[in-house]
Amino acid sequence: MMEQKRQLEEMERYAYTIFRKDATGHDFYHMKRVAKMGRKIAFEEGADPFLTEAIGWMHDIGDHKLFDEPADAVAEAQGFLRRIGLEENVMREIFQACRNIPFSKGRTPDTLEGKIIQDADRLDAIGAIGIARTFAFGGAASRLIHWPNDPKHSSVQHFYDKLLKLKETLHTKTALRMAESRHAYMQDFLNRFFEEWEMPCDDIR
Ligand code: ADP
Ligand code: NI
Repeated sequence: MMEQKRQLEEMERYAYTIFRKDATGHDFYHMKRVAKMGRKIAFEEGADPFLTEAIGWMHDIGDHKLFDEPADAVAEAQGFLRRIGLEENVMREIFQACRNIPFSKGRTPDTLEGKIIQDADRLDAIGAIGIARTFAFGGAASRLIHWPNDPKHSSVQHFYDKLLKLKETLHTKTALRMAESRHAYMQDFLNRFFEEWEMPCDDIR
């Protein structure tokens, strides 16, 4: 137990060194929210809290959007986990889950712990935090906030392409319960956004 607590603290420090400078919404605090939210859901759902939190800390390592050399990033993280004393089979389980978590992959992790982190990652993409992350990501990728005549690449379009659909993809009841109000808040935000957008005059389009 004490050993696992120390290992999770080491993982937190590792996530801090890797992600602290990220300005695309995948910063240290995204990892922290996903790891801790995952741990909370794990207790509710009867999953292994250690394994779940560990997957949470590691889940964005090797993501192709975030790393120039994804394979090197994964290899380095595996070396780190070995040094802090994780067993090979636990490590394999962590990275096996991480490979299936990203939305872009369209896959479902095969363990409950992996599914929980996929849920926690998606919860962090909706609600107030999700709204903030979307515009941060969009800005970092030079996307426009909103462009009515050509909405394809705007951040507002991302709500319709992905974020409003996430609630339906969650695996656990616990995450679904938390998603309801976050989903409603995004819809309120979009209604307000278009209301204010239209307000100055009728022909701003
Ligand atoms: P995943 O880790 O599940 O693959 P992403 O890393 O692609 O998900 O997305 C994480 C967050 O980054 C999204 O929830 C969203 O806030 C933001 N994001 C991703 N793609 C876009 C986009 N095209 N426009 C605006 N925001 C985006
Ligand atoms: Ni993530």
